[in-house]
Amino acid sequence: MKRRVFFSNAALAALAGSMGFAGCAKAADPKTTKHKNNPNSASGKPMTIATWPNELATAAAWKVLSSGGSALDAVEQGAQIPEADPANTSVGLGGLPDRDGTVSLDACIMDAVGNAGSVTFVQNILHPISLARKVMEKTPHLMLSGAGAEKFAAAEGFPKTNLLTEGSRKAWEEWKIKTGYQPIPNHDTIGILALDQKGELSGGCTTSGAAYKMHGRVGDSPIIGAGLFVDNEIGAATATGLGELMMKTLSSFLIVELMRQGASPQEACEEAIARIARKYPEKIKPTDVQSGVIAINPAGEHGAFSLRSGFSYTIFMNGENKVYQADSYLKD
Ligand code: GLY
Repeated sequence: MKRRVFFSNAALAALAGSMGFAGCAKAADPKTTKHKNNPNSASGKPMTIATWPNELATAAAWKVLSSGGSALDAVEQGAQIPEADPANTSVGLGGLPDRDGTVSLDACIMDAVGNAGSVTFVQNILHPISLARKVMEKTPHLMLSGAGAEKFAAAEGFPKTNLLTEGSRKAWEEWKIKTGYQPIPNHDTIGILALDQKGELSGGCTTSGAAYKMHGRVGDSPIIGAGLFVDNEIGAATATGLGELMMKTLSSFLIVELMRQGASPQEACEEAIARIARKYPEKIKPTDVQSGVIAINPAGEHGAFSLRSGFSYTIFMNGENKVYQADSYLKD
């Protein structure tokens, strides 16, 4: 894969000016750490990209895409993998509970024609991504929450599943003793995007949210525009990390809109993270606060960027499934 050519600050500002997207003039920052292994100049169709080392998820999505299936089916099937994995403590089964010991899940999905479905604060549902799809396809609404979403799930035949594993219950018990009830950011939300053989884009995002959050807290993952946004003409973006930051800056919508104004997926991702850093310098100080974003466009080009180092993402493209480290805004 070809290496990405990085722009200098001045070159990026000039490019942004010439293309008319003023926000991107500030995208490059002297504090930015540049890693050399980002394959940002590579493109392909079909392809799928997911936050974190979610190779099994991208493999499931690739299976759909490579046999001519839709991007929508691909992201749903990809997202189901970590949802059913008890070892993943921030998505679905095995997700760390809220401070009261309850596992509650958030998810959303968006298709190539702008339809979207979302569920928030749902309990005992193994595949909230599929429930979000049902909301999209079978109701006049976009979002169902809590007991209403669970009632709809029961009517649609979703079985009730206890999502609190013994491991997560024990971790919660230990947390209660150790931390004095402070929530902790956990960063492994899966956001997954796909481009199918027909050139259509879709995305999904699913999480159990911040570990030991307050009961009732909902993060960015089910919020269209914050945790996920898809515009088939322009591109798609999704986010992971401390949801409050992406909700206040509508990171996924921002990325797609910057791409609409001419930014590449990488430039748009960098600006969305820089926006968080500039607007919330105090909130990003704790070293466990992370925010990571990924984006693709209809050509199959992608971008990825994070607030701190350590954010990885997975791409399945041209028959290869690989994990990459994203560049980050802060050097730490
Ligand atoms: N990004 C996941 C959450 O904050 O809930």
